[in-house]
Parts: sequence; structure tokens; C-alpha cells
Amino acid sequence: APTPKKVPIPPRGVDYRDKIVLAPMVRSGELPSRLTALHYGADLVWGPETVDRAMIGATRRINPDTNIVEWVRIPHFGQKQPPPNVPASVIFQVHPSEQCKKLVYQIGTSDPDRAVEAARMVAADVAGIDVNAGCPKPFSTSGGMGAALLKTPDKLCAILEALVNNIVPEFEIGISVKMRLLETAAETETLVRRLCGTGITGLTVHCRTTPMRPREPAIRGQLRMVADICREAGVACLMNGDVESRDHAKKLIEEFGVDGAMMARAAETNPSCFRPEAEGGFASWQDAVEKYLQNCMTTYNRFGNTKYLLCNMVPGKWPGFKNISQSKSYTQVIRTFGLSHLEKQAMETDAKLGIDPESTAP
Ligand code: FNR
Repeated sequence: APTPKKVPIPPRGVDYRDKIVLAPMVRSGELPSRLTALHYGADLVWGPETVDRAMIGATRRINPDTNIVEWVRIPHFGQKQPPPNVPASVIFQVHPSEQCKKLVYQIGTSDPDRAVEAARMVAADVAGIDVNAGCPKPFSTSGGMGAALLKTPDKLCAILEALVNNIVPEFEIGISVKMRLLETAAETETLVRRLCGTGITGLTVHCRTTPMRPREPAIRGQLRMVADICREAGVACLMNGDVESRDHAKKLIEEFGVDGAMMARAAETNPSCFRPEAEGGFASWQDAVEKYLQNCMTTYNRFGNTKYLLCNMVPGKWPGFKNISQSKSYTQVIRTFGLSHLEKQAMETDAKLGIDPESTAP
């Protein structure tokens, strides 16, 4: 049989084939979530969508305590008299253990030049750049970003081509896109063919149309067709939508002829969904929470973000749930879970973040 065509993967890039990956998720895909997914066997992780305008003008620095690479915006930077004690806001973080090899950076954009400018700032630290062409939320679509790009294919292709022409030669990583299904198979087919002609190395298809809500089951009817077009063009195809575990992913990959799969909500609830059955499969939610909390503390994750994800991981009927949802410090959380061996670290983390470990709800 003839060897199948493959778009060459740039030397520093990654091939999405045979990968089960963590989906891009605003809030839920911050650094400690990604580290936890990698711990449980995710092959690659996507960062949360980061809007090009937020990244442009940020400053790259290395956090001396953690060695994490951070892009920060320093408020009032350049003003004669900046107000004191306004914390810099962190736009994006890369941990040494995901840097260059495991992390794909997702851009929210509606403009080729801005996309290139934003991508250029992180390209040396990541394994790939992905364009969000699937987010249906008004904050994304109203700016012409996310799923709005599915309706402006010329613009979407111009963005991908600009990234391929400007980022690939200089940084030697691949460009990819994450899209949703269009209303008809014919429309999807036309768009996928065009996208595959831009020079991208990977395409993820979220098996829902733009108006579909997350609780509506994913539709698989167009999936084999998308996979076939990608294979013909040599572009790796990942499927997304209602994938529950690594073993479920493997079955779907086989069934639909895609190259890999991406999980979002399954990983948000229990990041051990990436672990193969043969290695133990799903961990208990308690074990996953402990691993996640360790990653939050070693990276000094913002407490509000940690609590947000904990409320996804802890079953609502667990008696301590309300305590977790009302807690104000790592120390309180660690005590509620009864993880006394982590209490000292929790107190140190609170101190570092300027949180009163005993602070009570107002
Ligand atoms: C998302 N999703 C998403 N998609 C994307 O391309 N960029 C993003 O930043 C986000 N953010 C995001 C946040 C949260 C909290 C959720 C739950 C989802 C969509 C996500 O990547 C995925 O396409 C869908 O959730 C469908 O996959 P699952 O959940 O059925 O595995």
C-alpha cells in the first residue's frame, strides 16, 4: 500500500497522531490542571484560550521561586507615578515540565497580524499554536473570534496562513485549528478542505454545531468524513466532544478513523480519565483532588481558581462540599479534606499568597 501522505511536522513541533489530549479550557485549564492531567497520562495539554490583545504587550519573566515562565501585564506600566501595590496580572504560564514538548498554546483572534504578534511571544516555549474557531460565547464571537470564524472562512484561513508563513519557519512548531461542525455535512466538508490547505499540521473537530449546548449529546455523523479529508491532506485529526476516558477515546478513534482525541469536561471532573485501564484507570476523586492540590500549592495557583476547579472535582453530595465552596484559604481546604500531611505546605502557600489561613467568610 502507498505510504499515506503527511504534512511534515516541524522539527520542534509535535505530531497529534495517537495522542489523547487535554482540551483548552478557560479557567479549568490553568497550569495546575494541566500538570495533573500530565501526571495521569495526558499525552499533550492545550492551554486555555488566550486572546491576542491580552498577550500583546505582556512581559515574559521567569518566576524565581518556581521557575515557571510567566507573561504578565504590569498595570499602569510606563506611568510617571504608578499606584503602589497593584499586583501584576499573569496572562499565561508555562511550567518547565510542559515547556516546548507537551503544551499547545491556543489563541483567540480575529486578525492575522495580531495572531502572529501574539504567537511570536510564546512560540519558543510551546510545542504548537492552535487557533480557537469553536467558542460560541458572545465575548468571543462578538469580536469576530471563536465560532464566528466558521462564518468568515476567508479570515480564518488568512489567520492560519499568516501563522504558517511567519511562525513555522522561525520557531519550527506546527499550527493547528479547533473547529465545530457546520449545519450540513457539505458545509463542513468545504471548510475542512480549505483549512487542510493552509499548511496546518492538526485539526480538532468538536462534534457539535455552534448553537448546540454542552448538555446535548455530541453528534458523530460527520466525523468519518472529516477524518478522511484530513488523512487525504496529511493533517492529523483529533476528535472532541463527550469523550469519557482514555479507553473510550481508543474505541472512538478506531470506530471513526480519527488520529486522536481530546477531553474537556471528563478531565475537569477527574483528570485521571487519561490513565489507561491497564494502569488502574480512574483514580478516586479524593486521590485526584490531592494530586491537584499539590500541583496548586507548588505553583502558587490563585486560590479562587483552585476553589473553582475543586468544586468541579468534589461530588456535590460529599458532606464537606459546602465547606470547600466557602473556604478562603489552602489551609482550610486541606483541613476539610483531612490531608494533615499537607497542612504545613498549605500554611506556607497561604503565607506566600498573602492569604490569612484562618480567614472566615464575611
Ligand atoms: C471550554 N471549551 C473551550 N474550547 C476552546 O477551544 N477554548 C477554550 O478556551 C475553551 N474553554 C472552555 C472552558 C470550559 C470550562 C469548558 C467546559 C469548555 C470547550 C472544550 O474545549 C470542548 O470543546 C467542549 O467542552 C467539548 O468537549 P467535552 O467537554 O465534551 O469533552
